[in-house]
Parts: sequence; structure tokens; C-alpha cells
Amino acid sequence: MATLATSAFGLLAVGTAPSALAASGTLGQLAAAQGRYFGSATDNSELNDSPYTAILGSEFNSITPANSMKWDAVEPQQGQFNYTNGDAIVSFAQSHNQKVRGHTLVWHSQLPSWVSNLPSSQVQAAMENHIAKEAGHYKGKVYAWDVVNEPFNDDGSYRTDAFYNAMGKDYIATALKAARAADPSAKLYINDYNIDGTGAKADAMYQLASDLKKQGVPLDGIGFQGHLAIQYSVPSNIQQNLQRFADLGLDVAFTELDVRMQLPSDSTKLATQADYYRQVTNACLAVSRCVGMTVWDFTDKYSWVPNTFPGEGAADLYDDNLQIKPAYTAVSNALGGSGGGGGGDTTPPSAPSGLTVTGTTATSVSLKWTASTDNVGVTGYDVYRGSTKVGSATSTSYTDTGLTASTTYSYTVKAKDAAGNTSAASSAVTATTQSSDGGGGNPGTGAAKVQYKNNDTSPTDNQIKPGLRVVNTGSSSLDLSKVTVRYYFTGDSGATTFTASCDYAAIGCGNITQKIVALSSPKAGADHYLELGFTSAAGSLAANANTGDLQIRINKTDWSNFSETDDYSYATNTSYADTTKVTAYVNGTLAGGIEP
Ligand code: XIL
Repeated sequence: MATLATSAFGLLAVGTAPSALAASGTLGQLAAAQGRYFGSATDNSELNDSPYTAILGSEFNSITPANSMKWDAVEPQQGQFNYTNGDAIVSFAQSHNQKVRGHTLVWHSQLPSWVSNLPSSQVQAAMENHIAKEAGHYKGKVYAWDVVNEPFNDDGSYRTDAFYNAMGKDYIATALKAARAADPSAKLYINDYNIDGTGAKADAMYQLASDLKKQGVPLDGIGFQGHLAIQYSVPSNIQQNLQRFADLGLDVAFTELDVRMQLPSDSTKLATQADYYRQVTNACLAVSRCVGMTVWDFTDKYSWVPNTFPGEGAADLYDDNLQIKPAYTAVSNALGGSGGGGGGDTTPPSAPSGLTVTGTTATSVSLKWTASTDNVGVTGYDVYRGSTKVGSATSTSYTDTGLTASTTYSYTVKAKDAAGNTSAASSAVTATTQSSDGGGGNPGTGAAKVQYKNNDTSPTDNQIKPGLRVVNTGSSSLDLSKVTVRYYFTGDSGATTFTASCDYAAIGCGNITQKIVALSSPKAGADHYLELGFTSAAGSLAANANTGDLQIRINKTDWSNFSETDDYSYATNTSYADTTKVTAYVNGTLAGGIEP
């Protein structure tokens, strides 16, 4: 069982630290100084994100698996138990001296259908077996279990799930007893949402809790999920509500705190959100049996909110880039801290080394460097062009775009950590963008090819409709005004004059020219070609880039039918594929494809 880190801040009075005494410390350390824990939910896939785990492992002294101890994860088929993901979370916690809140044994949601499909006479045995096995597996490893999650409807009536339908409300006492038998030292909780303030649902939970206590059922705590939203008011009387449960002899805790908002966020909303977090933290600190708080993940990067409440988000203490938000500062301050983030860490990361240029085009420079190290963890890098910060990266590479051709730029990179410490700058590198004419005034170096698809459903109607796109296969930028493309066809009978038009071009039909040229000596499948060109406003193509879709149409001036299937450039593919039968030229020299 992980224990809380010993606190260095034990002299601060609960909730009353004047700012002059504001302590530096992580949220976990500050809470520990108040005899509490501060935790976060986490999920297995997130454990591969090292800037994230640097914060998870240092800032929090409790974690809750967001999904990996739920019934569908642990016993997806009856009697088949899988603890792999839950064990990974426990192991992370153990190596970071963190408590684990086990979540959750009995819940209507994320419940495999085999449970809901059982005859009701078999549900109790299945539930008791699930609890015995899972709580037995984690015996001694979890600090607390959310034994029963979300038993109530919002009006305070019991939720009629598989367990209630089979056993009535007694399923709750039965589940608690089974959990106690499986792990006698774990604190056993009932957990729910919309019970944070007083109201019908909180009253129903209060009635249940006091009945269970009277009956001697093993119940140790009530979990208040704390899924709040700034468009609704702060729950009323949070402190008094927590206190009445505490007065029953129960621990209380915020177990899934987050404060969502309608997106986009702005500074006003973020300040309101910070105030909600502050009020919840203060309410917990004012109740001696409020043992701790858990946020339902600490960063917007991994919040469950956008998936569940469309249009809402930004609910957490850190933003998508793992930078602290006003809400973090509010919680830290409420816990008696300085609000700075990163637990008073003042050690900056090492300067990034090995900064090199990995590529240039006429308009961009790509960079990579070697990762910095940090005493807590590197959360990202800032990239500077001269003295201007041009962007940030969480990996060790970056491409600076929107540059001018044939221009030399100088770059440096700095690393940063969660506390906002910034490293010294790396050594500078310079990079010169390529010339915009295909390279060094020697346009022949830009190689091009054409990709084709057939946009025409009928090869015998009065139009030919090729979809074309030009790809720069060279390593330098390609000036499109120097590029032409030829599509070969036969005019068949009827008029020998043609019209070509552009139906759509990703780069704009106005940037394309079309003409039809008769071959002086016709070839098999080709007595004419359509020649596409580009205006200078079409710009240039970076290496490997393409023009995007060019949808072209050819018709005869008398609108008589073609017979396309024997045309040299014709093919039947309806999505883009390389073709050698539509040719590309740079400055009039064949660059891609084979002429008929
Ligand atoms: C959420 C998880 O965060 C999501 O990843 C999952 O898709 C759905 O469940 N109340 C609870 C939590 O008790 O288990 C829920 O977690 C959020 C609401």
C-alpha cells in the first residue's frame, strides 16, 4: 500500500494560509500538508505520454483508473478475468508513492451485456463473485473502492439497473459486505454525481447512508463525483452537505472533479471555472473528514468531457498542452500553495542539444533536436526564429512554415517543464530556404508526375472528364508556372474543334489554363491532347506536395459523342493513382510519364 509522502508543510493552518506563507509544493504535497490527498484519474494509453506522466507522477499522490477496473474491462465474459490494465495503473502508483482509488465494482454502465442478460436469480451470485475476485485481486493494493457507483436517478429514486431489478436496493448492502470480505482494509464507498450540493438526490444518498450505518453494513465513505459545469451554478451548500455525511461517521471525498464549459473557452470562463474549483477545494478543507479530492484527469488533453458533452470541454486544471490554467492556481492557493505549478520546482530542464536542419523547401524549414532532461519532467519545447518564438512542440521536431524563398534564418530551441521553468537556448542553427524556381535558378531539377482518376461515368457520352493532379517528385520546390500536363485522346467522328474547361481545382480554376492541341502525326489512341498550364499565381509546390484535385472537362464544339476507351490517357480508376499516360513537363522538358 503506497503511503503519502511526508509533508514539509505541516505548520500551515487548514485553509487559512496567508499568502505570505504560501508554500511551494505539488497539489499532492499541499494536500498532504493538510492531511489529505490530491489525485487524478488516468488511463492506460496515457501512460505512454511522458510529458503527461511526468506531471501525473509528481503532482498527485493518488490515482484512479478511469476505465481499467470497470466490469467490462475486468470480466468481459463470465468468469474470465483480466487485470492487465488495472495492474499497470497500480504499478505506476506504487512506483510514484501514490494511493489508488479502485473504481468501480458495481455500476450500471460499462457493464458487459452478459450480466444484464442473466436470469435475475443469477445476478447476485455473479455480482458477489465479481467483487470477491476483483477486490481479492487488488487486496492491499487499493486504498478505497467505489463499491457501488451511481445508484440513484436525479430525482432520488433508485436506478433500475440489473442489480436493483434482481435484488432491490439490498444489492448495495450485499455488495459492500462482499467487498469487505474480499479486502478488509480497503475503505468502501458509494459514489454518485449531482449529490455535491444539497437536493433531492443528495437527500436520497443521505437516507441510504444513514440506513446502512444503522444496520451496521460496512460503509466507510461517500464519493461526490463533482462533475460540474460553469453554465450551472455552483452546487448549493457543498460544505454543509459534506458535513452531514461526515456526521454519520463517514469519510467524504471528491472523486471525479471537473468543471466543464461551453467551448470555446475564454479568460472570463476560465476565471469562473477557477472559482468553482476554489469553492470545492475550500468546502473539502472545511470538513475534517473530507479526506481528499480527485480530478477526472488533470489535463484537457485527456478529458472525457468533449466525448460525452458535445460542444463542451476545457474542464481540467491543465490545458491541452499540459500548461497550468487559472483553475490550477486557484486550487493550489486554496490548499495554501503558491499556485505556480510544478510543486515549487525551480530547476529548469537542460538545454536541447543537437539541433539540426532536417529539410528545407522554399517556404519551410524542418528541425530536430535531442531531448532535454529535467528533474521532474520536460513538458515541451519552444522554437525561436531569431528572437521570435515561432511555435511549440511536445516532440523533438518542428517545421517552421510560411517562410520566404532563398532566405537564411537562424533557430534556437528551449525546453520547458510543468512549473514553467525554461532551459537555456540550444546552440543556434541556420537554414536557407530554397529558391522558388525549382532550385538554384536551374528549373530542370524539379521533377513532376501526374496522378489521374476518371470522373466520367460514361466513356461514350459527349464529354471526357479526367481528374488530374500534379505531384512534385523532386527534392526542391517546383514553380507551377513552369509546369504543363498533357492528356491524350482521340476526337472520333464529328467536329474537330474542342473546348476544355475546369470544373473544380483545389488551387482555384482561375490559376489553370487549358488548350487543346492537335498532334501533327497522330498516334494510337491520340490525335489531340489537352494541355494544362498554371498561372504564376498558382505558386509553387513543395517537395512531395501535389496540386490537389483538378477536375477537367473536354467536349467537342458540336457536342457529339466520344469513344474514350481507346484513348491513350484513358483509364477506369475512380480514385487517384499514378499514371504514365498523362505526361508532365517542367520548362517544356518531359519530367514524368511516357508520350504516346
Ligand atoms: C468515464 C471515463 O472517463 C471515460 O473514459 C469512459 O468512456 C466513460 O466513463 N462517472 C464515472 C466515471 O463514474 O467512471 C466515468 O468515467 C465518468 C462519469
